[in-house]
Amino acid sequence: MSIGKFISLEGGEGSGKSTQIRLLKSKLEEQGLDVIMTREPGGTPVAEALREIILKGDPDSMDAKTEALILYAARRNHVEKLIKPALAEGKWVISDRFFDSSMAYQGIAGGVGETAISELSQWSLGDFAPDLTLLLDIDVTVGLARAGKRMAGEAEAEDRFEQFGLSFHQTMRDAFLRLQKQSSNRIKLINADQSLEDVAKNIWQTVGNHFTL
Ligand code: TYD
Repeated sequence: MSIGKFISLEGGEGSGKSTQIRLLKSKLEEQGLDVIMTREPGGTPVAEALREIILKGDPDSMDAKTEALILYAARRNHVEKLIKPALAEGKWVISDRFFDSSMAYQGIAGGVGETAISELSQWSLGDFAPDLTLLLDIDVTVGLARAGKRMAGEAEAEDRFEQFGLSFHQTMRDAFLRLQKQSSNRIKLINADQSLEDVAKNIWQTVGNHFTL
């Protein structure tokens, strides 16, 4: 059996990632592929417990270095216990966020530094990386307005990061766009400020260009 593929999706608040992940999963399944949907931080019991710690509570309860250490502990567990075994069984894995989020949020916007995050990544995961990363890019104000609408109905929103201001989100968007330019073979830019159907269409074209399905 051939080894599966690992796709991550990245994007700011309100970029429509979760909907697009579900749509991509169905399209891949229509091709006869076995697909697992997962998320970061999270994906395994250990990583989900660490997710609770990192996403809930006061924005000042930890600094970006502490976040990075917890995120990489969660990520190593996720990779070793879920992602690699699934790929070895020939399954395709789609993750809502992966290490580019740590680079953008903690490394660049949070000030930990890109070198520190690269070293942490290398130390904990070696050269393991997604086969393809889709960056769903959207204007920060448009994205936050969408996320705001969605969050209004949720009682237990995991909103520690959503409490940061507009300039943090702008820095983060710029960081993702820079990462995309640096790793343009792996990270593909998707304009998320379009209808759901058009974004899905772009994603499917991009996946088709990247892999032989
Ligand atoms: P989530 O509720 O999954 O939000 P989103 O819909 O934006 O993906 O929350 C994940 C949050 O965690 C998100 O604000 C980004 C942040 N995060 C990091 O800061 N670093 C990371 O490495 C990861 C995976 C997530």
